[in-house]
Amino acid sequence: MLGIIGGSGMAVLDELAERRRQVVRTPYGDPSCPFLFGRLDGQEVVFLSRHGFGHTITPHQINYRANLWALDEIGVKSLVSVATVGGIRADLEPGSLLLPDQIIDYTHGRAATFYEGPDQPVIHIDFTEPYDAGLRARVLAAAAAVGETLFDGGTYGCTQGPRLETAAEIRRLERDGCDVVGMTAMPEASLARELGIPYVTLAVIANDAAGRGESARRISLEAIGGVLDGAMRRVRTVLRALR
Ligand code: HPA
Repeated sequence: MLGIIGGSGMAVLDELAERRRQVVRTPYGDPSCPFLFGRLDGQEVVFLSRHGFGHTITPHQINYRANLWALDEIGVKSLVSVATVGGIRADLEPGSLLLPDQIIDYTHGRAATFYEGPDQPVIHIDFTEPYDAGLRARVLAAAAAVGETLFDGGTYGCTQGPRLETAAEIRRLERDGCDVVGMTAMPEASLARELGIPYVTLAVIANDAAGRGESARRISLEAIGGVLDGAMRRVRTVLRALR
């Protein structure tokens, strides 16, 4: 089954046919909200709204372990995470879609592993390539099939939030090699790897990062809503074409 995690601008997936909701509990507590099951163009899909249906859970307070544990329990075999980001690289204008191939983690204090606690062995997962190559290829093929431009590759810098970054922080992220900046890729990606679930992030550039382009002086939160409306429609088109 395909799992889809929706982020800001994608709290529901109205396209799902034969929808039903299900609450799932886990040893790590409650996921962000009930799961939505249904069919997307004939394909079995389960959808989770990362910030809750009412967008009430801030990035550092999301129970990533409960979300991922539940998705695994449900039987998700491929997981596409839709996430809004700020564009650092100059060609990544608001509204662009990007499929990152690398991550740098700047978060702190998030519960980031299933391998801790009494009687748990110390286990180090390989995370050289944080995103699944096969699933990346499928998402790229889906975008090509519907004629959507999807930038192939890039480094996602994951900050703690919920505040946006300073201009100097963005300059530092750029020196580090980050192309986009967001707040939710980690520990989502590494928890998926711990569970062996193939995982990719479909990143939606919502705004120029702090100090860049239209955000030279400040980031306009009012402008982001309009950008996301259009961009999420295109994301849905890509998801429907995923095979
Ligand atoms: N920074 C961090 N996260 C984000 C941004 C940003 O500029 N835009 C959307 N999510």
